[in-house]
Amino acid sequence: PLVKMLFGITELEEELRRRFGLKQAVIVAGDSDETPHVKQELGRAAASILRRYVTKGDIIAVTGGSTMAQIAERMTPSPQFKGCWFVPARGGLGERVELQANTIASAMAKRTGAQYRMLHVPDHLGEEAYQSLIQDPTVSDIIADIRKARIVLHGMGEALVMARRRRVDERTMTSLLAEGALAEAFGYYFDEQGRVVHNMPTVGLRIEDIDNAELRIGVAGGASKGRAIAAVIRHGREDVLVTDEAAAEQMLLMG
Ligand code: BG6
Repeated sequence: PLVKMLFGITELEEELRRRFGLKQAVIVAGDSDETPHVKQELGRAAASILRRYVTKGDIIAVTGGSTMAQIAERMTPSPQFKGCWFVPARGGLGERVELQANTIASAMAKRTGAQYRMLHVPDHLGEEAYQSLIQDPTVSDIIADIRKARIVLHGMGEALVMARRRRVDERTMTSLLAEGALAEAFGYYFDEQGRVVHNMPTVGLRIEDIDNAELRIGVAGGASKGRAIAAVIRHGREDVLVTDEAAAEQMLLMG
């Protein structure tokens, strides 16, 4: 039965890869909505994928989130990470400290033996504050580094779940609903077709930087996230997807 199960997953990976035009799909067994252990396995799988693709001196931009926190926990020192830098993909998005991209970047660096840089940007920036912040030399220096990232490692979530978690205001919530926001990744909200319908005001990677990065690795699982993951992938090219069986099945059901 084990061999049969593994074979089943391998076929599912190939089908997912082909249907969504991915370079690689990795699927762990189970549903992380139901079993916390599956989310840990997702973390382990993603940590090993990153180790496979990383090259010396890379800048790796990472997002925050509980899935990303699991990946950090599963990382181990490895020679490939020597001289690499972990940086947050974007500034403050309204997350709790444990789930912030800065925290994840520093944890990943410490675990792998790489280095890190932080981006200190307050949440919910107004236009004026944003303009003056990006002119600050220390901030613009790190933003320039972030935009050189060769690899972007990121989580993905459901739009309304993420909007609530980040306590966006009522007006934003209403417009997200009106615009059909379904998915969220790196502070951008996407509709079912993968069109960007909203962008949280912060600094760091712009959507075009993400689209142009050499390698994007998206990590998310759970049946509830299936449609959202598909929407993010429809936006552009996702190279590597690390997910679980339940999310993969939802994605394939959608066609
Ligand atoms: C965020 C990422 O921090 O984590 C988002 O910036 C993603 O791209 C979210 O939607 C997912 O969070 P979690 O906790 O479900 O892994």
